[in-house]
Amino acid sequence: MLDIKRLTKVYGKNFKAVDDLSLSVKKGEIFGFLGPNGAGKTTTIKMIVGLLKPTEGSLSIGGKDILKETIAAKLMIGYVPDEPILMEKIKGIEYLDFIADIYGVSLQKRRERVEKLSAVFKLQNALQDIVSGYSHGMKQKLSLIAALLHQPELWILDEPLTGLDPESAFLLKKMMRNHVKNGNTVFFSTHLMEIAERVCDRIGIIHKGKLLFTGTIEELKKTKGEATLEQVFLEVTGSEAEQMDFSYLDASE
Ligand SMILES: Nc1ncnc2c1ncn2[C@@H]1O[C@H](COP(=O)(O)OP(=O)(O)O)[C@@H](O)[C@H]1O
Ligand SMILES: [Mg+2]
Repeated sequence: MLDIKRLTKVYGKNFKAVDDLSLSVKKGEIFGFLGPNGAGKTTTIKMIVGLLKPTEGSLSIGGKDILKETIAAKLMIGYVPDEPILMEKIKGIEYLDFIADIYGVSLQKRRERVEKLSAVFKLQNALQDIVSGYSHGMKQKLSLIAALLHQPELWILDEPLTGLDPESAFLLKKMMRNHVKNGNTVFFSTHLMEIAERVCDRIGIIHKGKLLFTGTIEELKKTKGEATLEQVFLEVTGSEAEQMDFSYLDASE
């Protein structure tokens, strides 16, 4: 469903935020893109969805090249950015209508989907309000709903669980599972290990722009001989946190 070949992004003169990254995500799986802050997750995602031009490499979605068959490729994607980018001066429902118009979702279908999705996230009562008055969490939920209106074959979410309340986070995880059950694909980034461990079918670990591992969590634990994904992650990304001495935090006299 998603094929990334030798993708590189250079910022400025020679800073490689993404460095020769190749990766495939199969139809019907939830793929977790893991990495510490600054690893290159958002940069990669912005290239996948066509917001950033790669310095090198190619990207295809369902066999469509994002640079050559841009519209066809983009129609297959539902994208949730790390920070909700919405039009603020209109009502929530107007925003959803606008997005549904862009993707050509019929009036009947959008009504059904808006009703269902806004009920899931308990946003029904806010849809008639102006977006600028929404809380951060509400904006995030509106952004999630908007990205699902056209039932995208590939749902791409950048750090979707950060900032969501526990109930919404739980619902979102269920929706991700539900989305792949219906034959679609989910690609999401996170730096939260316990979420990845619970949700993903396969993961990829990115560190300083390089993809260090792809496979199932079981495979990763086996090759590294560690008990938890968190330990493996810290080891793979060369973090010193595991060895840090926290004894000075103890409340001693
Ligand atoms: N527009 C930009 N110009 C220059 N450097 C950038 C830009 N965007 C991101 N970076 C840098 O690229 C690296 C990767 O960033 P990003 O893709 O946002 O990482 P992540 O999403 O994994 O936290 C970081 O070092 C970041 O500071
Ligand atoms: Mg990011």
